[in-house]
Amino acid sequence: MTCKRMVDAGRRQFLRGSLIGAAAATVMPANQARARSLARVEYPSNRLANIADLAVDMPLEIAYPDADSPGVLLKLGRAVMGGVGPDGDIVAFSTLCPHKGWQLQYHAADRTLNCPGHYSRFDCEAGGQEVWGHATQNLPQFELRVDDKGDIHAEGVDELIYGRLSNVL
Ligand code: FES
Repeated sequence: MTCKRMVDAGRRQFLRGSLIGAAAATVMPANQARARSLARVEYPSNRLANIADLAVDMPLEIAYPDADSPGVLLKLGRAVMGGVGPDGDIVAFSTLCPHKGWQLQYHAADRTLNCPGHYSRFDCEAGGQEVWGHATQNLPQFELRVDDKGDIHAEGVDELIYGRLSNVL
């Protein structure tokens, strides 16, 4: 008898938990939809330079998506992740370290962007992947497009730029 009461109590507890779970599930889609809408951003299309302005391993300072977001445009000399242009070797990244916003510096010897603050390092040939350090995300890479005149345009960013709640302010 005692055992049957315990089973019934267990069933009631299970049903109560199921109802709470179902109620939460009906709320979830609305929350998720809100999160998605907050993350949706309209990026400007900004001309950064022309292919003729670039040479292998000669970084060109740029800013994107606005003047307060410094970055670098690079020609790496071989096709890489996210690379554009005839050789698939032109990439661009934010130069604000994702850890605490120090200004990154390019090292041509190993194609990395390096932080003088706490020494995080990011691989320019692997889409800005962090290869060492304190940062908790990879380096934001700018999405590029080359038009038929050879002009290079930035049109998006794949990670959150340091210090921002949204990449486009
Ligand atoms: Fe770059 Fe800390 S600010 S590693």
